[in-house]
Amino acid sequence: MTIQTPVIAGNWKLNHGPEETRAFFRALLPEVPADHVGTIAIFPPSLSLAAAVEVIATRTDILAGVQDVYWESRGAFTGEISAPLAHEAGAQLALVGHSERRHVFGESIEETVKKVRAVLDAELSAILCVGETIEERESGAAQGVVTGQLEPVAGTLSQMELSRVLIAYEPVWAIGTGRTASPADAAEMHLHVREVLAKHFGSAASAIPILYGGSVKQENAPDLLAAPEVDGLLIGGASLEPSTFARICAIPS
Ligand code: 13P
Repeated sequence: MTIQTPVIAGNWKLNHGPEETRAFFRALLPEVPADHVGTIAIFPPSLSLAAAVEVIATRTDILAGVQDVYWESRGAFTGEISAPLAHEAGAQLALVGHSERRHVFGESIEETVKKVRAVLDAELSAILCVGETIEERESGAAQGVVTGQLEPVAGTLSQMELSRVLIAYEPVWAIGTGRTASPADAAEMHLHVREVLAKHFGSAASAIPILYGGSVKQENAPDLLAAPEVDGLLIGGASLEPSTFARICAIPS
C-alpha cells in the first residue's frame, strides 16, 4: 500500500453502522473516479469495518482504518480492539491520539506512544493526531503542546517506518465547533510540525503527510488544502454524507 497526497480522510467517530456503511460506499464509489489523485481513507466504527472493507474491495485508492487500538495484541482486555486483529479484519491504517481519546477518555501521551508502536508493529500505517486546546492557544503554548505530543512518538520511529506515519494537526477548539483554523494558522502549525520531524529525521521528514482537521467543510476545504505544508484533511462531520465527501475528494490538488 502506498499513501499518496493529498490524503482525504473521513473519521466517522461513533456514526454509521454496517448497513449505513454499505449505503455510504454504494453512493460514494460512482462519484469518485478510481484514478483520482491522492489517497482516500475512511475510519468507520470498528463494528462497521468489515462492511467497509467488503464494499471497497475493488478500489485500491480507498483505504479503511480503525479509530483507535489498544497496545496489547490480545488477552484479557474486555472491550478493546488491537492492531493485529484490525489488520486481519482488513484495516490498513489506525488513528492514534485523537483529541476525543485524549480529552474525553483521558488518554496520556505515554499511551499514544504505545499505541503508535502497536500499530506500526502490526504493519499498519498510523495517523498520529496532535493539537492544542483553546486555553493552550490563548496562553501562547500551542506549539509547545504539539511538540510535547510529537516528540515522544518521533523518538521511537525508525527511518524505515516513516513511510507508514502520518500526522494530523487537529486543534481541539476547531473540532465539531464550526470554528476552523485559518489556512494561515494551519500552515504555521504544520510548518512547526515539519520542523520537529526534521530534527529527528532530516530531509526524510518532508515526505511525512501532515493533515489538517477541525470543522473542515466543502466551503473551506480548497483554501486549507492549498495552504503550505497541508498534505491532506481529516474530516469529521462533513465525511458522513457521501456527496459532500465526494466533492471534497474532487478538489484539485
Ligand atoms: P469535525 O470535522 O466534525 O470538526 O471533526 C474533526 C475531527 O475530529 C476529525 O478527526
